[in-house]
Amino acid sequence: MSITEVIEDEMNAQEQETLSTEFFDELLSSLPKEKGQRTPDIFLYQGFWCQPKEIQAIISIQKHYTAEGTDLILATIPKSGTTWLKALSFAIVNRKQFYHSQKDHPLLTSNPHELVPFLEYKLFADNQIPDMSSFPRPRLLATHMPLGAMPDSVRNSRCKLVYLVRNPFDTFVSIYHFIDKIRPKALGPFSLEEAFDMYCRGVIGFGPYWEHMLGYWLESLRNPHKVLFLKYEEMKENTSFELKKMAEFLGYPFSREEEEDGVVEGIAKMCSFEHLKDLEVNKMGKGAIVNFENKHLFRKGGVGDWVNHLTPLMVERLTNIMEQKLACSGLSFKLLL
Ligand code: A3P
Repeated sequence: MSITEVIEDEMNAQEQETLSTEFFDELLSSLPKEKGQRTPDIFLYQGFWCQPKEIQAIISIQKHYTAEGTDLILATIPKSGTTWLKALSFAIVNRKQFYHSQKDHPLLTSNPHELVPFLEYKLFADNQIPDMSSFPRPRLLATHMPLGAMPDSVRNSRCKLVYLVRNPFDTFVSIYHFIDKIRPKALGPFSLEEAFDMYCRGVIGFGPYWEHMLGYWLESLRNPHKVLFLKYEEMKENTSFELKKMAEFLGYPFSREEEEDGVVEGIAKMCSFEHLKDLEVNKMGKGAIVNFENKHLFRKGGVGDWVNHLTPLMVERLTNIMEQKLACSGLSFKLLL
């Protein structure tokens, strides 16, 4: 290493140090905050709600992640089907190397989050600046960040984004159950009513949800070769059709022979909720994202569970909000199948 590189290295380290102490504390104290769901507080950073560690990672991503033209980025709000999207994308992109029915397919022994890393929870977490130069191409990556918060290289390069949206009613119920399972006991209870009120005010991780989805939705309309916008409910209804759409968009279209051989259905089945949920790694494993049990990533995996949780008043409130926020956007949801 040359002396210039050593100095640069040290400067980088110092910058990171400053980021994690004085600068960061000062930054946090200047941000609007609310009671957190998994951490004591959650902060409004660049227009969306985040935990402190996420903000730290986002700053680092904005500074150090340079998208390449071949990068494939999966984007979601938490609990909208990220795990499923990661499994499907990994299976599509790597199917020449790993045939879906292969006994040692990586999805049989690794949780999808281990195979498709989050920028903010794995790669740039804890002040790390990963060396991504040796990653196999295309780099299959994931994020919960809103589109507007992504570094310029994401917009300026030819990288592609797949966004999966889920109806806001089921997403809320999924978030609520997930938080209930993994919330530290020391933070005290978190009622459904309180969680719902926060959700309706936009206060959820990376929310408001309507802004998150609209950012990707509008870009998918403007630039359909850049952003593929998928809906959880449509994926559930017709997985094979949506899978083919995804494969085409990602640059890995299924050949006629593959279709005749049942590869599309095979991948859909391998990545199905029922199959993934029962794998040892997903029943007993831990830490695929951060330090919680993988089993909490699999609950019911359906459409319409909100009817079992929300009162008519809650439904009315959220319906009004979504109608108002999505007015004229052309974006709508199936609430039941
Ligand atoms: P429910 O809580 O409604 O069951 P995320 O992966 O973004 O954390 O989202 C979790 C939600 O997706 C959970 O919803 C979970 O059960 C569901 N899910 C996980 N794997 C799935 C799969 N393979 N197919 C469909 N849904 C899945």
